[in-house]
Formats: sequence, C-alpha cells, structure tokens
Amino acid sequence: MARVFTSFTLLALVFSMVMATDTSPLQDFCVADTSDHVFVNGFTCKNPSLVEANDFYFGGLHMKGNTSNPVGSRVTPVFVEQLPGLNTLGIAMARVDYEPWGLNPPHLHPRATEVLTVVKGTLEVGFVTSNPENRFISKVLHEGDVFVFPMKLVHYQRNIGNTNAFAISTLSNQNPGIVTIANVVFGSKPKISTDILVKTFQTSSDIISNLQSKF
Ligand code: GLV
Ligand code: MN
Repeated sequence: MARVFTSFTLLALVFSMVMATDTSPLQDFCVADTSDHVFVNGFTCKNPSLVEANDFYFGGLHMKGNTSNPVGSRVTPVFVEQLPGLNTLGIAMARVDYEPWGLNPPHLHPRATEVLTVVKGTLEVGFVTSNPENRFISKVLHEGDVFVFPMKLVHYQRNIGNTNAFAISTLSNQNPGIVTIANVVFGSKPKISTDILVKTFQTSSDIISNLQSKF
C-alpha cells in the first residue's frame, strides 16, 4: 500500500512539474529566423549549420535606458526579437531603469511570470490578485532583493529614492508581452467609446476625454 502511495505521489509530482513549464524543445536550439514569412507559434528555426555565437548573444544591458518620459522609467527588453537564440526556450530578460520617483506603471505580462532583482536603488513594488479579492500585495525592495510577479497579474514598480535605480527581470516566456493598463484602456487605436469608459470608471466624459488625450 505504501509503495502504491509513493508511486502515485511521485507520478503526481512529475506530472505537476511537466504542467508547470513550457513544452520541452525538440532539438538543442531553434534560433529564430525572423526573416521567414511562415507563421508558427514562435519563429521558424534558422538552419542550424548557419547558427553562430552572435545568435545567442545580446550586448548592452549595462547601458541605462532613456527615462525622459512622463512616467520616468524605461524597459529595455531582451526578448526573442532582440535575442533570436531565445526562440522556443521559454525565457527572456529585461532591464528596467527608473529616474528618482520614476514609475514602471501598472501592467501585466500575458504570457509570463516575472522575477525581478533590484541591482541599484530602492523600489516599491506591488501586484493585485484577481477577482473577487483584488488583494493588493506590496513591498519595499533594496539592492539584491528579488520579487516575483505571478503570471498575468497586474503589477508595478516605483523608485522611492532620490537617485536613479535599476533592476533586471527574468520572464518565463521568450515573448512575454507587456500590456500597460492605462495605454490599453485610454490609448487604444481606434479608441474605446467614451461612454463605455464613463460607465466603467463611473466618472464624467470630460475626465475620460482628458485621459484619452494623454495616451
Ligand atoms: C519587465 O519587463 C517589466 O515590464 O516589469
Ligand atoms: Mn513587469
């Protein structure tokens, strides 16, 4: 009986591990051929015999992103578009720079969990759980601290120091995607009808039009 239970537990563990990750690649690598016009889930593979070291390389994450914008932050992605060797591997990175009190505004990644490491500065970070609880979970992070934003949940980071800050994020998808809440709601093209947003946010059309004009 004990052995049956042990085998069952082991099977359940293995199964849950399989379910918790992307499917395994079927070859050592599949460097993205971004010039191919065949549409598949991801990119088609470059001929492996033509693959070179630079296909697995991205240089430049030591450089600060330009934070001169209304929110005072910049995400420098190292996703499959920037690093073709990531194709099919289920992982990507980003550098996030913040000017003093700069904000990486509320957003979500439709395909990835994010693990953020603070390299310099002090960040307040937070995310909100799904309906109906909508619990807000937040923390102040210092250099060397690591925080996880669970897949698809709305989250943000804000520099709460008077000096520049930056963080490195790892994301569990070659193409995590970024959905910035304010941009999708107020900056869609074409616009969502003002009356829909008036009802959604229980506010006036002047306020909605003003918000739409900013995105
Ligand atoms: C990282 O990609 C982030 O936007 O937080
Ligand atoms: Mn993020």
